[in-house]
Amino acid sequence: MAKGTPPTPTPPTARRSPPTTIESSRDRERLRTVVFPEHSDLAAAVAERIIEVIQRETRAKGRAVLGLATGSTPLGVYEELIRRHQAGDLDFSHVITFNLDEYYPMTPDSPHSYHRYMWENFFEHVNIAKENVHIPEGVTPRERVTEACAAYEQAIRAAGGIDFQLLGIGKTGHVGFNEPGSDATSRTRIVTLDTLTRRDAAADFFGVENVPREAITMGVATILDAKEIALLATGEHKAGIVARAVEGEISTDVAATFLQRHQSVTVYLDLPAAAELTRIKTPWILEGIEWTPAMVERSVVWLADKSGKAVLKLSARDYAEHQLSPLLAPARARRFGGSHQRPGLQSATREDSGTRQAARARARTRVLAPSG
Ligand code: PGA
Repeated sequence: MAKGTPPTPTPPTARRSPPTTIESSRDRERLRTVVFPEHSDLAAAVAERIIEVIQRETRAKGRAVLGLATGSTPLGVYEELIRRHQAGDLDFSHVITFNLDEYYPMTPDSPHSYHRYMWENFFEHVNIAKENVHIPEGVTPRERVTEACAAYEQAIRAAGGIDFQLLGIGKTGHVGFNEPGSDATSRTRIVTLDTLTRRDAAADFFGVENVPREAITMGVATILDAKEIALLATGEHKAGIVARAVEGEISTDVAATFLQRHQSVTVYLDLPAAAELTRIKTPWILEGIEWTPAMVERSVVWLADKSGKAVLKLSARDYAEHQLSPLLAPARARRFGGSHQRPGLQSATREDSGTRQAARARARTRVLAPSG
């Protein structure tokens, strides 16, 4: 679901065991990134961090200021926060919130409005004061939009700035509705939505022609002013843009890359959304990795795909040119994580999960040694 119609909230879930994460080389990553094999662990970890911030800031200055996001991605976080509130662990009476964006024009009672999304999926279920909730107004008359945007910025400053900003990422790389072309100095303003963003929202609006063409959004600079930022992404459809945001150069083409300039950003991903990160997709090209039999298999299948050759036709040169020379060394010279047995190119049958390479590997039963 794109950032569109609010879904029906699901009941709060039971208390979970501590989340597990995938740890591996992060050489290519320009943002601190955490990958969760279990989707529910991601929401629990983010909610836990928000709770820590609320408690710390409320103790320190009598209030906590949260920047909030809509869309399908943060729903699990809101469910977890509601559950913790209902369990008596969490008080929202001193919490002030600022939402990232709203479609324009948009009435607050429309099923597509982010006002409605936020109340139905979160605010209605916790003890937040109505006057502490801020969401850009999609009904502001056009001639007053600039003034309203300046007032939104001023309200954030008056609250003492945002302590914790929650973000999703769109397929265009937008954070908030900062579409390609948004620069690092942008502030709250009215923007034109990218065609891809409108297409992503089309199903919720029963046709792309019904999706608003504009929105009011916090700017990149507004977001970067937050003390701490969490960027969340789930699902395979986000994998490409996530890799670009995490490993790519900073560019106005992808607003999320500006997060690389911030001191305190964490990217929270489920495994499908992490699938295009180097450490998941082609970990063997990173320094100091530990070879496992499954990785041997995946890397050879990858090399065959990349070189357009059958596995048996791969030459020593193909291996060397793709940083896979270690596979040609005697097995004892390779580092196999936790095991000294020779996995060998002939016997690599164990699998790890999640990537297209692994899926392809499953379709092939044996991987054979190189031809030269
Ligand atoms: P989504 O939207 O969570 O519905 O994928 C994210 C975004 O567009 O920012």
